[in-house]
Amino acid sequence: MADPFYITTAIHYPNGKPHIGHAYETIAADVMARFQRARGRDVRFQTGTDEHGLKMAQKARDMGITPRALADEMSGYFKELFDHLDISYDRFIRTTEDEHHRASQAIWKAMEASGDLYADRYEGWYSVRDEAYYDESELTDGEGEEKLSPQGTPVEWTVEESWFFRLSKYQEPLLALYRDNPDFTRPESRRNEVMRFVEGGLRDLSVSRTSFDWGVKVPDAEDHVMYVWVDALTNYLTGLGYPDQTPDFDKFWPADIHLIGKDIVRFHAVYWPAFLMSAGIALPKQVFGHGFLLNRGQKESKSLGNVTDPMELADRFGVDPLRYFLLREIAFGQDGSYSPEAIVTRANAELANSFGNLAQRVLSMIFKNCDGKLRADLEVLDEDTALEANVRASIDGLVSSFERLAFSDGLESWMHAVFACNQYVDDQAPWGLKKTDPERMATVLMTLFRCVRDLAIAVRPVVPTSADTLLDQMGIPADARDYAAFENANWFAQLAGSGFVLDKPEGVFPRLELPETETETD
Ligand code: MF3
Repeated sequence: MADPFYITTAIHYPNGKPHIGHAYETIAADVMARFQRARGRDVRFQTGTDEHGLKMAQKARDMGITPRALADEMSGYFKELFDHLDISYDRFIRTTEDEHHRASQAIWKAMEASGDLYADRYEGWYSVRDEAYYDESELTDGEGEEKLSPQGTPVEWTVEESWFFRLSKYQEPLLALYRDNPDFTRPESRRNEVMRFVEGGLRDLSVSRTSFDWGVKVPDAEDHVMYVWVDALTNYLTGLGYPDQTPDFDKFWPADIHLIGKDIVRFHAVYWPAFLMSAGIALPKQVFGHGFLLNRGQKESKSLGNVTDPMELADRFGVDPLRYFLLREIAFGQDGSYSPEAIVTRANAELANSFGNLAQRVLSMIFKNCDGKLRADLEVLDEDTALEANVRASIDGLVSSFERLAFSDGLESWMHAVFACNQYVDDQAPWGLKKTDPERMATVLMTLFRCVRDLAIAVRPVVPTSADTLLDQMGIPADARDYAAFENANWFAQLAGSGFVLDKPEGVFPRLELPETETETD
């Protein structure tokens, strides 16, 4: 039985159209999901939209429509974007689904049964933008009288009857969790932040609202709706069938990775494990808080007029080059920056000029000089074996990096192998052997063919469509493109013996160009 692997992204507020940050997180999760599938794991991948809360209610009111109409419309854009970006999710969840209301009420009852919920009155600060409560001590001064949250968002003084969750009771258990599982929160900087926050003391958390009704009803207290984060976090369970003890739940819970932005680590690494401990449910294995994606070093905002539509970016540069760029350019976990020039430069240097050119040269030479035929009957020399070993070692490097979500390191390792192959082409100069030593030329080309196949399979989680187009041309069967293919020592002899003949190859990584206007104005 394949080892199960459950990965989730945050679910996003559909109070507007998706932006590049949503694309970034979801692409990273998709690469991890595809990578684990390629590794032979039985993967479950969930994403979706977080549709309740005051922010949604206020936005809808401003627009003069119902929150449900707003959610329906905007959630559609998220789904459309993710489909366009080849996100291989198994479940796109919407928190307005009946199933999700049922799951949220079930976890609520479980927390209540543990004696962790009580009624009181909340008086304190709330940020609608973050949907978060803050302690006075965390705030900074804004303009005039205004107070700002640590995220720089406005906060308002809120007084309301509400249910409270005994978060204070979980201070010690949470600290023990972080101590016993140093990888529970990653990267390290986020872990330190979380530990400092919890060591500073935890106050009980207000977990329901009475001043508006857009949310999941609190069981037996119908004038209350749950605090949006209580229901939102529960989405990770809903998607597996909770509260029913389904086969999916048994198989995939606890989650392997909750992949989220660094700004919402507190909810995932403090509140969520506390809720789960209270409800008697196993804890996820890891919360990974990635960094922010900046546009030429700046946060995107309407007022700066630098908001980029990720759909447009994908259409302009191609889905695969965009996916590759985002994972290669930025050390995952840290903040990073993008610009059209940076995308074009990276995609051209590495995908078009290095890997794409290698594949195209090798396949063209086999097509032209070997009549497109593969030969497994040739004598290989040490330098050929050495290249193949080098490629395999680089791929092992990619695998161990990707396991840690160190995508950029993994792709760098992969690029080393691409360079080694290009160097080998230059050293062996197969074109010059055509007349003098056609057998040796064929050996060199066959060695390269095997390397290109390995490289294409290795990078397939990142650039799935392009890798498949290349592997199609190479005659590699669709069911032999997972990493298990690296273990099959006979594949080349089998393919050569099958009578497969290469067609005239088509390049799969076109050179990208910047529109004139862009280069002029920059
Ligand atoms: N909607 C929240 C945000 O964008 C994230 C919710 S993630 C969940 O900040 F797990 F809580 F659902």
